[in-house]
Amino acid sequence: MKKISNKLLVISSIGELRRVVSEWRSSGDRVSLIPTMGALHAGHLALIEEGLLKAERTVVSIYVNPKQFSVGEDFESYPRTEEDDLLKLREIGVDVAYMPSTKEMYAPDALTKVNVEILSEGLCALSRPQLFTGVSTVVTKLLMQCLPDYAIFGEKDYQQLQIIKRLVLDLDIPVQVISVPTVREKTGLALSSRNAYLDSSETLIAQELYKIMQEISRDLVSGAQVSRVIESGFDKLISIGFSSVDYLTLCDSNNLVSLTVLDRPARLLVAANLGHTRLIDNIEVLPENSISNL
Ligand code: PAJ
Repeated sequence: MKKISNKLLVISSIGELRRVVSEWRSSGDRVSLIPTMGALHAGHLALIEEGLLKAERTVVSIYVNPKQFSVGEDFESYPRTEEDDLLKLREIGVDVAYMPSTKEMYAPDALTKVNVEILSEGLCALSRPQLFTGVSTVVTKLLMQCLPDYAIFGEKDYQQLQIIKRLVLDLDIPVQVISVPTVREKTGLALSSRNAYLDSSETLIAQELYKIMQEISRDLVSGAQVSRVIESGFDKLISIGFSSVDYLTLCDSNNLVSLTVLDRPARLLVAANLGHTRLIDNIEVLPENSISNL
């Protein structure tokens, strides 16, 4: 255990994390956990602020989880900005940066995986087949290692959020999952560690994504036919310069079932590619006279 300021502890072992958390608990402190893969930006910081508000103690995990990347994905090149991340965590007042090694996280002979059926099958799983089993397994492990009162996740990764809520319910994990709205640039572009891959002309195209989603949402709420609006949305994304669109879909906000009619609280979800960079985003779409259920 390395102490880099009066407050922030950097912990890399499960045993040490458990010891520190149980000391906090015995003095009556509650604990928030914010799982991340580092390269921290204002979106992560919004989750951390929420964690700081909820509990007396806050743990941020930084772990680029190899099990959620498929062969050929960006595990090796994923941005790693450890020094900068630790400065941000110290400044904002986090108690523990939990940074386990892969040796600590996964026994070489481990046989257990966590898979949330159905919710993990469509949308991002179609092009990233390993993603959600990897996410579900590592998030379950992080929750069991830390045993926090609150675990904070972003709506930015909406399918991931629904999967995590489900696994916590199904596995009786005693934690409250809290979600935080997507933090965006002024242009509307959702902050993401992967935005660092975009060059300046790709950034200009990426900045149109949210605007197009808002237009689609307005058309849907005004009663236009879902299939037509989605089809013209696809065309718009390609015509402004996206190289391909993995999906653009209206789904039930809770179970992610695809909708052909906007008759309940829904989410418009998109994954679109710009060169080698894959962007995801989503927004709430409520039928008129309905209220948000998040
Ligand atoms: P990562 O992409 O680092 O994201 C960590 C958390 O930050 C997630 O809950 C994500 O939804 C949230 N987040 C990212 N960008 C955001 C934004 N612009 N606004 C609000 N929240 C945002 O998601 C992961 O890591 C991993 O899959 C993880 C859950 C840590 C498991 O490995």
